[in-house]
Amino acid sequence: MSGVTLNKVIKRYGDVQVIHGVDLDIADGEFCVFVGPSGCGKSTLLRMVAGLEETTEGSIHIGDRDVTRMDPSERGVAMVFQTYALYPHMTVKDNMGFGLKMNGHPKNEIESKVAEATRILKLEPYLDRKPSALSGGQRQRVSIGRAIVRGPEVFLFDEPLSNLDAELRVEMRVEIARLHKEIGATMIYVTHDQVEAMTLADKIVVLRLGVIEQVGAPMDLYRDPDNKFVAGFIGSPAMNFVNGTVKGGNVEAPGLAARYEGLINTAFEGKAVSVGARPEHITIDPAGDTHTVELTESLGGVSFAYLTSETGERVIVEERGDIRSEEGATVGIHIDANRIYLFDAKTEDRIRS
Ligand SMILES: Nc1ncnc2c1ncn2[C@@H]1O[C@H](COP(=O)(O)OP(=O)(O)OP(=O)(O)O)[C@@H](O)[C@H]1O
Ligand SMILES: [Mg+2]
Repeated sequence: MSGVTLNKVIKRYGDVQVIHGVDLDIADGEFCVFVGPSGCGKSTLLRMVAGLEETTEGSIHIGDRDVTRMDPSERGVAMVFQTYALYPHMTVKDNMGFGLKMNGHPKNEIESKVAEATRILKLEPYLDRKPSALSGGQRQRVSIGRAIVRGPEVFLFDEPLSNLDAELRVEMRVEIARLHKEIGATMIYVTHDQVEAMTLADKIVVLRLGVIEQVGAPMDLYRDPDNKFVAGFIGSPAMNFVNGTVKGGNVEAPGLAARYEGLINTAFEGKAVSVGARPEHITIDPAGDTHTVELTESLGGVSFAYLTSETGERVIVEERGDIRSEEGATVGIHIDANRIYLFDAKTEDRIRS
């Protein structure tokens, strides 16, 4: 078992640079999740670790081995893709054993490794079926089985659950968490799904435009984002942002109909700030009159009220409990000053008072 270290990793396609000097340490046995908007370089970075993309500059280590120029087959990694890419004419069992067979492993070794993967993934009932006779979730389990039999030091997953329907996704997410617990190998996992990132990760890496914005444990990123981008990316629905100004060491934020006392260092006096508040940290005051409820979305246990302030700024508020806001109502809002985040309006860096 081994960790993964990226050192000043750069990727260029011709003149276009897409990864801009990434430094990252992933500990042995850690579950590391890459998130970020489409096109930010998640797959590229993962494929560079796999050896499927050449690393233009910098180095990649797995354990203490420099794998930067090694072939994928020499790196001790196994990758699971969004599309299962199973051999349609082979049974589940043969699909899982095929890679080992091609590499000349003895038959009894292949059998025992396939049996082990079958047990871990609960694939016993399907071993003699062809992929066409399996559900999407079962197919993805076979492709994970194909990775397990190789006994890799590092598992690489590129959005492995995106082709599954919502219910299966939840089931497979739990399976992958269990797999990680049982095998204990280092895993790097790319996803668009907030819930997958928050629940699976020991460590989340937030990427934007080929640069790491922040790395940390899920709840650390949620509670203590370094900048507006991370604050807005982690959490669903996203954090609300309204314009504010620092006056006399306090923050005035008309969009939240509020003035926050003594929050801020006087070095920021007169500065424009972006004021952030999460939907779950705002409460609605039905007796107030600063916001209009434009729309409500009820998901059952929770509702989201879309408000517009007198200044025209939009704020989303989470509501639970029996009494929920109605569309068209005029309301006020309340936020605990300790739950407010401030960002420099220009640099978007967090201002920690
Ligand atoms: N072969 C290529 N030639 C030129 N540019 C490429 C090539 N492959 C990828 N890119 C560019 O590299 C950037 C990163 O792409 P990548 O596929 O890593 O994004 P991603 O974060 O995985 O996005 P998504 O979430 O949509 O899968 C994109 O801007 C993409 O257009
Ligand atoms: Mg991708």
